[in-house]
Amino acid sequence: MARNPVPVVLIGVGVLWLALSSDRPQPVADRRRAHRGSIPMQGEAVMAVSRENLTAWLRDAHAMENQAIEILEKQASRLEHYPELRAKVRTHLEESRRQAERVEHCLHQLGTDTSSLKTAAGKLIGTAQQLSGLFASDEVLKSGIADYAFEHYEIASYKMLIAAANEAGEHEVRRTLEENLREEEAMAEWLGQHLPEVTRQYLHREAAGKSAKV
Ligand SMILES: [Fe+2]
Repeated sequence: MARNPVPVVLIGVGVLWLALSSDRPQPVADRRRAHRGSIPMQGEAVMAVSRENLTAWLRDAHAMENQAIEILEKQASRLEHYPELRAKVRTHLEESRRQAERVEHCLHQLGTDTSSLKTAAGKLIGTAQQLSGLFASDEVLKSGIADYAFEHYEIASYKMLIAAANEAGEHEVRRTLEENLREEEAMAEWLGQHLPEVTRQYLHREAAGKSAKV
């Protein structure tokens, strides 16, 4: 019987977070506080700080979406006995590709050069394998748990980005990010509703001696 996959998923998400947060310059606010004590910053200074962080976090979000695409691509070509889940994975794969494009568009709107984005995504290779459950005998269920965890990681990221865009006064960027957030929430909702049925199908297949892994 397979082991409880939750720790593996949490470690995977943790590794992803560490990968995304490495090589980050010290935030502007920290540097200023170091020089000026804890003088509260208002108005334009807050907007400037928000804008600088927003740009860095959007680059993380772009890497995050590339990671999602990598995981979903693997699943979309497998899951042969779970057509409904596979169809949803394929739909969300297309959504994730559009989300990555939207994030790139946001970076362009902030005047950021996006030519080095692919390099940032390259750092995360390896995490996908941890998150995909590729080697598990109950791969479909490990994938489901990983997808559900990853969607919530994305939801948290977009909520943070939306708040930063708001503080930066970048309302068009905020609206674009809200589109991505809605899609992630819808995917998380779908998974939350359908994972029990996928589990039921898995158990029935196994009980009938049928191939149940994917
Ligand atoms: Fe997603």
